[in-house]
Amino acid sequence: MGNRTFTMIKPDAVANGHIGGILNMINEAGFRIVAMKMTQLSAAKAGEFYAVHKERPFYGELVEFMSSGHIVAAILEKDNAVEAFRKLIGATNPANAEEGTIRKKYAESIGRNAVHGSDSDENAQIEGDFFFSGLEKF
Ligand code: TYD
Repeated sequence: MGNRTFTMIKPDAVANGHIGGILNMINEAGFRIVAMKMTQLSAAKAGEFYAVHKERPFYGELVEFMSSGHIVAAILEKDNAVEAFRKLIGATNPANAEEGTIRKKYAESIGRNAVHGSDSDENAQIEGDFFFSGLEKF
């Protein structure tokens, strides 16, 4: 058993029919899906999830986008999960994302960038707990 990270497939990728393609890349990269659900965030919940960015100029747009449609939230497990998953998703701006990354293949822009990946073990825990109860994370 490795350690865990948290991901969301964002509204752009869900609307564009890329849930299957992205989950396939996640499986091929050797992550185990521990928990998963499709849901839609209210603007209030999206604002809470991204509260660390609330002073940034893109915050309003980010909250609007993240609450604009369905997302798929999941907890993933692998050795060194946080770092390995950040590598698999690629740079925040898809223009800078490497070949073979999820964002290179599926992101539309820096704002509509297909996937979220936690940036630390601590945030992975907080973000997973935001979406899933203890009973769902086996
Ligand atoms: P950030 O945590 O910096 O990136 P990452 O998702 O790669 O960890 O930013 C969170 C999200 O905010 C990012 O995925 C998309 C959005 N964002 C913008 O819309 N514009 C920006 O200039 C930045 C830096 C982020």
